[in-house]
Amino acid sequence: LASVEVDVASLTPGMSLVVKWRGKPVVVRNRTEQEMKDGEAVNLADLKDPIARNANLPSDAPATDANRTTPGKEAWMVMVQVCTHLGCIPLGQEGEFGGWFCPCHGSVYDTAGRIRKGPAPENMAVPVFQFISDTKIRIG
Ligand code: FES
Repeated sequence: LASVEVDVASLTPGMSLVVKWRGKPVVVRNRTEQEMKDGEAVNLADLKDPIARNANLPSDAPATDANRTTPGKEAWMVMVQVCTHLGCIPLGQEGEFGGWFCPCHGSVYDTAGRIRKGPAPENMAVPVFQFISDTKIRIG
């Protein structure tokens, strides 16, 4: 399917679901206040990959916490849950930065899915998506 619609009404803060889109797992996470704060507090100079990698934004957009999400819905992460090293599936809410941890070779991502440690070169990809209602997201 070129696009999928996801009902996120049941996701309270701290909950995630994973859908398949174009053969890849896409995680939809309603982040907690703390996860957002942690993401916003990061100094961009500390990022290994300073680019947002958000298909909804220009290709040179900086990797701020907000630029990893969508305007007005900054709690929500929608992200291809595939490690940018060699394509393993990172585990959610694991690792030093409280985001994602890839068990294959130890890449550590933060609460905005930005690579912080380990061999992965890029932030995990944010696909084209939009909220088509308060509780529904279209991916693709
Ligand atoms: Fe994730 Fe290598 S595939 S760290």
